[in-house]
Amino acid sequence: MKKEWKIAVVGASGMVGGELLYLLEKRKFPVSRAYFFSSGKRESFVKFKGRKYGCEKPDFKKMSECEIVFFVSNEEVSEKYAFKLAEKGVWCIDDSSRFRMDKRVPLVIPEINGDIIDEREKVIAGPNCTLTPLAVGCAQIHKKFGIKEIRLSSYQAVSGAGKRALNALFEESAEFIRTGHNVKSPESPFAHPIAFNIFPQVGSFDRLGYSGEENKVSAELKKIWRAGSIRISVTAVRVPAVRTHCLAAWIKTSKPWTIKALEKTFSSTPGAKYIKPPEYATPLNTAKTECVYVSRLRPGAAEREFAVWLAGDNLYKGAALNSVQIAEAIAAKYGR
Ligand SMILES: NC(=O)c1ccc[n+]([C@@H]2O[C@H](COP(=O)([O-])OP(=O)(O)OC[C@H]3O[C@@H](n4cnc5c(N)ncnc54)[C@H](OP(=O)(O)O)[C@@H]3O)[C@@H](O)[C@H]2O)c1
Repeated sequence: MKKEWKIAVVGASGMVGGELLYLLEKRKFPVSRAYFFSSGKRESFVKFKGRKYGCEKPDFKKMSECEIVFFVSNEEVSEKYAFKLAEKGVWCIDDSSRFRMDKRVPLVIPEINGDIIDEREKVIAGPNCTLTPLAVGCAQIHKKFGIKEIRLSSYQAVSGAGKRALNALFEESAEFIRTGHNVKSPESPFAHPIAFNIFPQVGSFDRLGYSGEENKVSAELKKIWRAGSIRISVTAVRVPAVRTHCLAAWIKTSKPWTIKALEKTFSSTPGAKYIKPPEYATPLNTAKTECVYVSRLRPGAAEREFAVWLAGDNLYKGAALNSVQIAEAIAAKYGR
């Protein structure tokens, strides 16, 4: 009989938490019992398999009774519990950025490096949601043609910054429609109003002027692809879309290619869908779908450079879906 797993979701009442519960159910991940945790600062409820559950404050004893704990809350919470639970034999799948660059922790996108999942390393990190369309979409291109330089501009949806940010977008939009004024919501985590606006800042800036998000994309891509020598420069931009991050990328390879050969490779890349011109991906035509999208493929300005438009739902493949796929990979390897 297929093994059923005792699980916990820490951050179940959040944006990623909600999608995670939906996808666990939709993909029929075998669960025998589940605990749901939130900050405990306010009353919150989640729905799972047709039942409504209250969320409670994290409880280490209950988490340590589980076999898999999904962390979809924040870095501090992952820091506090993940390794302590792993010592007790609990798999911890972490969507926060806390351990992504930690040498002890595999950073996993199952389509790319699911084979590195190993029971000796029970804390597993999922990557940054902005990087995912690039990492998944161009993985086979990198293998075949050797990517050596990437220039990238992101167009990042508001849900990438959590439920407070999304509430701010809705409130500010309503306020603008009602009054004609652009006013930043008091709840907003951003430095500027996001409704009817865009800004080139995701996270805080370092001394060179790169934002936290821009640095995460470069560092995590190198770790996942095991490609330390790739040169990459990113401009991360927040836009008022609800979900799905899009990326405009200019990519140089070391080996030559033809557009036809690139199309063929993109079309057979696991987890990616190639869209032929004149169609292309938008947040509205790709949200709540499980793959990443590659479109607008064309030659770039330099030799062996091509330009491409990538997209992927930040809450699905960028977070919750990837975590569920990691759990599925664990179940496939160790669940007998
Ligand atoms: N949003 C994305 O697209 C995305 C993509 C990749 C990775 N991530 C990562 O996924 C995590 C969750 O992001 P999100 O967008 O879902 O955020 P969110 O919507 O703000 O939700 C945060 C969740 O964490 C809970 N929480 C806060 N403090 C807690 C505490 N001390 N103990 C336990 N639970 C606590 C919140 O509970 P309350 O409801 O009680 O506040 C809520 O359930 C973050 O680490 C984020 O970096 C997000």
